[in-house]
Amino acid sequence: MKKIIITIDGWSSCGKSTLAKQLAKKLGYLYVDSGAMYRAVTLFFLRNHIDWTDKKEVKKALNSIKLKFVFNPKSKVSEIFLNDENVEYLIRDMVVAEKVSDVAAIKGVRQFAVAQQRKMGTKKGIIMDGRDIGTVVFPKAELKIFMTADNAVRTERRFKELYEKNPNITIEEVKNNLEMRDYIDSHRKVSPLKKAKDAIELNNTNLTENQQFRKAMEWVQQKIS
Ligand code: DC
Repeated sequence: MKKIIITIDGWSSCGKSTLAKQLAKKLGYLYVDSGAMYRAVTLFFLRNHIDWTDKKEVKKALNSIKLKFVFNPKSKVSEIFLNDENVEYLIRDMVVAEKVSDVAAIKGVRQFAVAQQRKMGTKKGIIMDGRDIGTVVFPKAELKIFMTADNAVRTERRFKELYEKNPNITIEEVKNNLEMRDYIDSHRKVSPLKKAKDAIELNNTNLTENQQFRKAMEWVQQKIS
């Protein structure tokens, strides 16, 4: 069967990674969470007090960042390493979420991440989720999915996820963060979040994980058979 590139873009917390993981498992494809790369860069900038409004400082900082994904056989997904430290869990923190959209809007940061993302796709058999994967990273991908879901549903889903780690978090905080990130991600100058012309829209507000997986698998079958 032919190996393809599958891109999944969309708003924050609309289930992109859930779908990507389901598909990767079924197809035996590599799953890459591109957002994790922007989060890891943000973590590095915060820890090292990098002034990301200063181009030179950003360039210097990026030169000392090495990112890699390592497959964890227990969780069955690849986890991100920042200079040989596993930061997969740290990067999900609200402190990072508050700043990641600002960092991801920087041209130099995007060039740094996109170059690595394209390399990962050279052999195909890959599913990558993010905001600009179908438009900029892999504009020729065989299957492009653009995911949406109602704001209230997305907030609820993210809240549940974050509450498990931090019971002090409020639904208001989560809602504000999602709205802020969506606004910055879709209004930035470089590679803003938008649906690729040839992407299929998947609104999963009223779909179970299983239903959305079956829908996406139908689209995959059409492309690989
Ligand atoms: O998917 P996520 O929520 O982990 O992504 C974190 C942030 O990174 C998100 O607010 C926007 C940015 N991002 C991006 O600009 N481009 C991507 N391809 C992936 C994520």
